[in-house]
Amino acid sequence: MQSVTVRAPGKVNLQLAVGGAREDGYHELVTVFHAVSLHDDVTVRDAPAGSGISVEVVGRWADKVPTDMTNLAAKAVAALARMAEIDGSARIRIDKGIPVAGGMAGGSADAAAALVAADRLWSLGLTKEDLDDVAASLGSDVPFALHGGTAMGTGRGEVITPILAVGEYHWVFALADEGLSTPAVYGAFDRLSAGRFLVDPAASQRLLQALRRGDAPGVGAAMTNDLQSAAISLRPGIERLISLGEEYEALGSIVSGSGPTCAFLVADEDAALDMCSVLEASGECSGVVRASGPAHGARIIEG
Ligand code: C5P
Repeated sequence: MQSVTVRAPGKVNLQLAVGGAREDGYHELVTVFHAVSLHDDVTVRDAPAGSGISVEVVGRWADKVPTDMTNLAAKAVAALARMAEIDGSARIRIDKGIPVAGGMAGGSADAAAALVAADRLWSLGLTKEDLDDVAASLGSDVPFALHGGTAMGTGRGEVITPILAVGEYHWVFALADEGLSTPAVYGAFDRLSAGRFLVDPAASQRLLQALRRGDAPGVGAAMTNDLQSAAISLRPGIERLISLGEEYEALGSIVSGSGPTCAFLVADEDAALDMCSVLEASGECSGVVRASGPAHGARIIEG
């Protein structure tokens, strides 16, 4: 086999409950991840031994993605090669469909896809547990990108537990020209919560029950994100976008992860088109995309 292509999804957090900073700098959290149909396709190709790892990025957001060894897909391939004690020279091609630095875990999706692709390319036959371990070492959101669907994340987000969720959900995402750095948003969260008592993060029973019933209005009403105020403190325009969702058709409006992408849950395709028009006409965002969820985790589409 010479190349393997794997598709991995972006995500939105239906709930993101954040606790205090831990000794290692990470924050303890409880989150409900939901994978959506915005994908990156990652191809890992054999390269001559000793030639190292190269990265090429194509697609809508390609110019914002690093092509050196700071790229999370390159780190994933390197980590797997180290683990398997092989040369690990490879050419990686990423076709980006997930907005960059938007709080939708596009880099994590690339890492997850690269792990699955390299595992197959090199016939390593790693177990799900092995892949989960390497994934967690690469970033808090990478194990979920392997898993997909709708699932609970605990710890720093890397411990994934499946949850019962039914139904299809329609989403509109409002994009920003410039991303937000995740550590900067967590830093703003720490500043905003300084001196306040932070309760231990816990799953919202209201949200879990709505997901169990496939009740989209219930899900929309129960969505919460503890990083939202922090993201707004760094990017005040986000607040105007969220209130547009509340004013118009959205069942729920939320900052996606650490932002600045805003996610609007809507009833159906028609409502999605209406929401797109409202957001585009507002001039408050640089672009709008539609998606549905839940979507599959990283899976081989070629090779
Ligand atoms: O794990 P990942 O590399 O995606 O995290 C990026 C940054 O986000 C971390 O360096 C940390 O600043 C912040 N973070 C956090 N608590 C988490 C997850 C991420 O503080 N649970």
